[in-house]
Amino acid sequence: MTQTLKLASRVLHRARCVFELGASLGSRGSGSAPRGLADIPGPSTPGFLAELFCKGGLSRLHELQVQGAARFGPVWLASFGKVRTVYLAAPALIEQLLRQEGPRPERCSFSPWPQCSEQLRRQEGPRPERCSFSPWAEHRRQRQRACGLLTAEGEEWQRLRSLLAPLLLRPQAAARYARTLDDVVLDLVRRLRRQRGRGTGSPALVRDVAGEFYKFGLEGIAAVLLGSRLGCLETEVPPDTETFIRAVGSVFVSTLLTMAMPNWLHRLVPGPWGRLCQDWDQMFAFAQKHVERRESEVAMRSQGRPEEDMESGAHLTYFLFQEELPAPSILGNVTELLLAGVDTVSNTLSWALYELSRHPEVQTALHSEITAALARRSNALSSATVLSQLPLLKAVLKEVLRLYPVVPGNSRVPDKDIRVGDYIIPRNTLVTLCHYATSRDPAQFPDPNTFRPARWLGEGPAPHPFACLPFGFGKRSCMGRRLAELELQMALAQILTHFEVQPEPGAAPIRPMTRTVLVPERSINLQFVDR
Ligand code: HEM
Repeated sequence: MTQTLKLASRVLHRARCVFELGASLGSRGSGSAPRGLADIPGPSTPGFLAELFCKGGLSRLHELQVQGAARFGPVWLASFGKVRTVYLAAPALIEQLLRQEGPRPERCSFSPWPQCSEQLRRQEGPRPERCSFSPWAEHRRQRQRACGLLTAEGEEWQRLRSLLAPLLLRPQAAARYARTLDDVVLDLVRRLRRQRGRGTGSPALVRDVAGEFYKFGLEGIAAVLLGSRLGCLETEVPPDTETFIRAVGSVFVSTLLTMAMPNWLHRLVPGPWGRLCQDWDQMFAFAQKHVERRESEVAMRSQGRPEEDMESGAHLTYFLFQEELPAPSILGNVTELLLAGVDTVSNTLSWALYELSRHPEVQTALHSEITAALARRSNALSSATVLSQLPLLKAVLKEVLRLYPVVPGNSRVPDKDIRVGDYIIPRNTLVTLCHYATSRDPAQFPDPNTFRPARWLGEGPAPHPFACLPFGFGKRSCMGRRLAELELQMALAQILTHFEVQPEPGAAPIRPMTRTVLVPERSINLQFVDR
């Protein structure tokens, strides 16, 4: 009965969305002649540049999505750097675009690369065969490095995807890493305890929790990838892991600058591109050291005691060695997966605890749900399996990712001319999907800026299924989704089992800012009070 009601509410809601979308696009029905890029409204290039560089718009790109939708409607066009981008900010239009994806969707690594696209236009005319907007892929090309799954395109991407998906994306595959993650999570709890009361303020206060969770993110993904512990959660953090974490943060800043700068500015200010290359070089060097170490350990073991192979090799790099993926490709993938595992999980965990500390009633209910479920657990079920089935825990994480989507604006480059709403979008046009704007759209989520996990538990009308897509969609969706969910569920469960999390006394609210990914605009400090 509940399911039927939910379905009916969803159908009604979608009908309403289609109607509203039709109204917002004007009176032209779908039978009307489609229009071209030149008809799409949008800000002037000088106005948009001023917004980005003079009014701090670069760190508010997520808010510019909301403003753009309010000013121009659900489709608008703006030049970002040297690249013209169509912005889509309505779930029905995003669905329309994503459902027309080909077998090898192109995303261009979240980012347009202005110089490259100009080069291509010069070489291949106004509609080049392949898109190459990505500064990250350009780094690989210049340094003669292999792309990993994040930056690869076309057949290479497809090959890597089919190799990695069974190792990471299947629920059973991710669950295989639960034992490894158990130890990492317990180390995180110990570290949080040690970090309390440093400096002035409450004895239970941990400053800059995101900084702690970056270490957790790196330790977790490295344990899964390399099967070895880096020691990021020890009292003394190894200096190369600090360097890696700094490089991850820095590469996101320089990526954003590199993307947004028009060509003439690149020639005047070469710094961001240089920094981007330096950051990636550091990350590659870090990954290389660890991959080589694992490679020689695996080789020694398989020569001496083959029966120990499986035990020692329960990590992703080992499986990639077994698949005989070329060494440069293993390195490219490990480096990119390490990067992908750091900011994503840590920021989501920081926001989750930030919101739970401000909504003690939700925290209490969640704590009860977790402790009751773990107490009821039979030996046949792992705690990871039990946690993955808890409705409130799932709803809390969905709500956190709705309010703070790590990737606030994703992208696609269609491989053929497609119709979206009233417009024909030519192939090779960069299209930005405004996930932040749709996630905070009051028509989809009443009272959209309020943390309310109950909205995912049947309270109120169900949103359009494409209104909130924190892990993307389809063939190119997040490869680490299962792992990330597992890490987040396990970490939240352990943290709430050991501590009551409270806000820093007198602290003002913290807003998100864009740093390619969405991060807190300043440090989140929280109190971890023993239960
Ligand atoms: C809360 C955590 C995370 C969020 C919200 C997130 C979000 C995303 C999004 C939105 C995309 C783009 C999907 C698309 O274009 O449709 C993506 C891609 C990707 N993510 Fe994640 N991610 C998270 C954690 C992770 C982790 C832990 C890993 C590492 C294992 C990872 C690895 C990747 C990779 C490799 C891709 C590229 C997939 C491809 O192009 O085929 N992610 N992620």
